[in-house]
Amino acid sequence: MSRSAVKKSLLKKPYVISVICQKGGVGKTTCAIVLSTLLASMGYKVLGLDVDQQGNYTETFTGISIRDLRLDGYLGVIYAINPAEDPREFLVKENELSDRLPENFDLLIGDERTGFFSEKIREYKIQDKNSVLKNMIARFDTDYDFVIIDTAPALSPMLTNALVASDGVVCIYQPEKYCYSAMFSLFETIREVQAFNPNLKPLGILTALMDGRRSDMQEFVDLIFGDQELGKYCFKTIISRKASTGRLAYAGVVKRINPEADLGMKQYVPFVKELLERIRKN
Ligand SMILES: Nc1ncnc2c1ncn2[C@@H]1O[C@H](COP(=O)(O)OP(=O)(O)OP(=O)(O)O)[C@@H](O)[C@H]1O
Ligand SMILES: [Mg+2]
Repeated sequence: MSRSAVKKSLLKKPYVISVICQKGGVGKTTCAIVLSTLLASMGYKVLGLDVDQQGNYTETFTGISIRDLRLDGYLGVIYAINPAEDPREFLVKENELSDRLPENFDLLIGDERTGFFSEKIREYKIQDKNSVLKNMIARFDTDYDFVIIDTAPALSPMLTNALVASDGVVCIYQPEKYCYSAMFSLFETIREVQAFNPNLKPLGILTALMDGRRSDMQEFVDLIFGDQELGKYCFKTIISRKASTGRLAYAGVVKRINPEADLGMKQYVPFVKELLERIRKN
């Protein structure tokens, strides 16, 4: 699908996508990183928001530890939410900090200070506590096509904010018992937020970290794909556990620096195609 075909069909601009799952370590950040990179490589202008205090999305894109970023004075999301500030002041832009940021991609970093979200809301005297991220994104006048939000493994006020700010949500599903259980409460959370944000669409469930040698994982794939309520949301693409995908975390997504970056990201290409088709149809 061409860039213009999708752009014309986007309901609003930027189109905001949160990558979510309250279960930890299921492949959210990897998906958010690769999705941001592939969209940027297609010519879309992408803003990445790291709202997880682990700062994994930030560290992969910058190649710099969140501690060093903090010591160097980088502030990120938690300061950009201040209505008295221009959020553009807090961006890490292409080539500014390191040569690891892709073209067409800007970043608002996240680090342990993200844990002070509620305190900052009080300090900045923000009234609408659920629309903090939404209002911050609205203050960017840059021509972004997509905002991608990498979220923490928790059903938290920050997650509610990410969902209130989003047009679409991608749920990551690792085919295992605990993650299977988590999917149902995750969809309850999505429905609860739809009361505040009726535009929020579950774009789909992406199965990730699949190990084809494990028959129990295949059973959990069959369970979710066959589920009456959730089966219809499953993307056909299944992301497998692959060494080159795992290495993106430290080697990064820019080919100059990580020669196998394309190999690591390749399995996400059909997912991005499915995703753009669903956005177009929504
Ligand atoms: N397809 C894959 N193949 C191999 N390794 C992967 C793959 N996807 C993710 N990983 C690795 O698995 C670990 C967990 O992935 P990731 O950090 O993306 O999960 P997460 O859901 O964001 O975790 P958290 O809940 O802690 O934020 C990371 O070390 C990552 O590099
Ligand atoms: Mg993560």
